Amino acid sequence: MSSMRAVVQHTFGGPDVLRVEEVARPEPLPTEVLVRVHAAGINPVDWKTRGGTGMAGILGEPPFVLGWDVSGVVEAVGFGVTTLKAGDEVYGMPWFPRAAGGYAEYVTAPARQFARKPATVGHEVAAAVPLAALTAWQAVVDTADVRAGQRVLITAAAGGVGHLAVQFAKHLGAHVIATASGGRHAWLKELGADEVIDYHAVRFEDVVRDVDVVIDLVGDDPDRTGTRSLETLRPDGLLVAVPAGVSTELAEAAAARGVRVTPFLVEPDGPALRRIADLIDAGEVSVEVEEVFPLERAAEAHARGESLRTRGKLVLRVTG
Ligand SMILES: NC(=O)c1ccc[n+]([C@@H]2O[C@H](COP(=O)([O-])OP(=O)(O)OC[C@H]3O[C@@H](n4cnc5c(N)ncnc54)[C@H](OP(=O)(O)O)[C@@H]3O)[C@@H](O)[C@H]2O)c1
Repeated sequence: MSSMRAVVQHTFGGPDVLRVEEVARPEPLPTEVLVRVHAAGINPVDWKTRGGTGMAGILGEPPFVLGWDVSGVVEAVGFGVTTLKAGDEVYGMPWFPRAAGGYAEYVTAPARQFARKPATVGHEVAAAVPLAALTAWQAVVDTADVRAGQRVLITAAAGGVGHLAVQFAKHLGAHVIATASGGRHAWLKELGADEVIDYHAVRFEDVVRDVDVVIDLVGDDPDRTGTRSLETLRPDGLLVAVPAGVSTELAEAAAARGVRVTPFLVEPDGPALRRIADLIDAGEVSVEVEEVFPLERAAEAHARGESLRTRGKLVLRVTG
C-alpha cells in the first residue's frame, strides 16, 4: 500500500496537535478522482474542528486529517468519470461537511465536486477560493438572491468570505456596505465596497439603515454583531447568519422587528466553482492570500488564523 504525507491530529487541542505523518494514500472509487494536492486552503471551520468547538464532532473523534479546500492535478480517475482526466488542474471543496482530508498530498472525492481551477492563478491562490467563495456565492446569490440596486451590509468584509462576498454583491449591482478595520478600507473600496465602516470606532447600526440583505460573517460572539445587524434591515429584509446559525434569541429579535433571518451552511458545488473560476479569469474577482505556509507549519498557520485578523486567506503549500 502506498503512503503519503498528511497533517494528522490524534487529540482535540491547540495548534500544536497538528503533526505531519505518513498515512495510507487513498484510492478513487467509481465516480471519484484521485487529486495530487498542490495547495490546501485554511478556513475557520478547520481550527474550530481541530479544537473540538463550533461544529465540533463533524469529523467525530480524532485521529483525523483536516482540510476541505484543495487545488491540484488529477492523478487518476475512477470508473465512470467522463468529465475529468489525469493531468487536469482542478480545485474544489469536496465532501463538506464530511471529512475530505485536504491537508495531505492526495485526496479522493466525487469528480463533480471539483471544477477546472482558474487558469490565471496558481494552485496556492486557487486553493484559497473554494470554501470561502462558495460560502459567499451561496449566501449572496442562492440564499439572498441579491439584485441590482439593493443595499447589502457585509460584516467582516476583509476576511476570506467577506472580500469575495463584497465582489459578488458588487458584480450583481448591489450597493455594498462593509465593516472592517480602518487599515482595510482603501483595499475594500478597490474591491467594490461603496461604504466602509470601521467597527472599532463606530457602531455600524447607528449609521446604516434600509438594508435589504445582511451577510453576517461575525455572529453574536463576542460583540453581538448578528443581533445588532437586525437594526439596519428594512422591514422584511433578510439576515444570512453565516458563522453559527440562528439562536432562539436572534430568531425572536428578528421576528419582533419584522425582518427575516436564516441559518446557512456551505455545500460542495462544482458548477458554481466553474462560474467563480470564470469570474476570476475575467479579472472581475480577485483573491487575496495573506500568506502561504509549508505543510510542516500548519500549526503556525492555524495560530495566525485564530487571531481573526487575516486579510483574505491563509494557505498551505503541500507539493510543487
Ligand atoms: N456557515 C458556513 O457555511 C460558513 C462558511 C464559511 C465561514 N463560516 C464562518 O464565517 C466566519 C467568517 O469566515 P472567514 O473565513 O471569512 O473568516 P476570517 O477570514 O478568519 O475572518 C477574518 C476577518 O474577520 C474580521 N473581523 C473580526 N472581528 C470582526 C468584527 N467584530 N467586525 C468586523 N470584522 C471583524 C477581521 O477584519 P479586520 O482585519 O478588518 O479587523 C478579519 O479580516 C467564521 O466564523 C466562519 O467559521 C461559516
